[in-house]
Amino acid sequence: MSELKLEMRPGLPDPLRVLLQEFPRDAWQSNDRFHGLISFWLDRHMMFRQVLAKMSDLTQQAQQRDIEQRIYASQLSRYARFFVEQMHGHHHMEDEHYFPTLMDLDSRLQRGFAILDSDHHELDEQLHGFTDAANSVIMPRDPVNVVSDTAKFLDVLTRFELILNRHLVDEEELIVPIILKYGPADLG
Ligand SMILES: [Fe+2]
Ligand SMILES: [Fe+2]
Repeated sequence: MSELKLEMRPGLPDPLRVLLQEFPRDAWQSNDRFHGLISFWLDRHMMFRQVLAKMSDLTQQAQQRDIEQRIYASQLSRYARFFVEQMHGHHHMEDEHYFPTLMDLDSRLQRGFAILDSDHHELDEQLHGFTDAANSVIMPRDPVNVVSDTAKFLDVLTRFELILNRHLVDEEELIVPIILKYGPADLG
């Protein structure tokens, strides 16, 4: 199963892409069932990508000294707290509500939900590392280490962007076709 870990996975395994072939991504928006639940949920995913990009942008500015450390720390603190809280809330909603409702609709795709569940555990672990790395630049223990801590945090952000994007793309490509085919059930 290690080849299915987020960092190793090139995408969903082929057997889990059967419905995606029937409902390819570029045709989602023109489907009547797209608007509402699906578009709201995809917007949440986009928001996570945007907040991560914003934190990377701020951190690059801090590295180049284009932003005062005090202002950087205050803005990063706000974005980082928001990101962690929203990620936990989003995972909770999917684990408790979306996944159990959708996983039985198409038996061919059930294995995909185990992969997504495992992703959530992996992302939760990585969020601890993210929080520690963010705190080390928000509240530097030793000003001597600020430059290297900022560089480390940028690495953490870059890696997190990669694995989160892998999860979001695969989750979208598993779940959106299910809702387009079978309807939003009682998710809305
Ligand atoms: Fe998820
Ligand atoms: Fe999600």
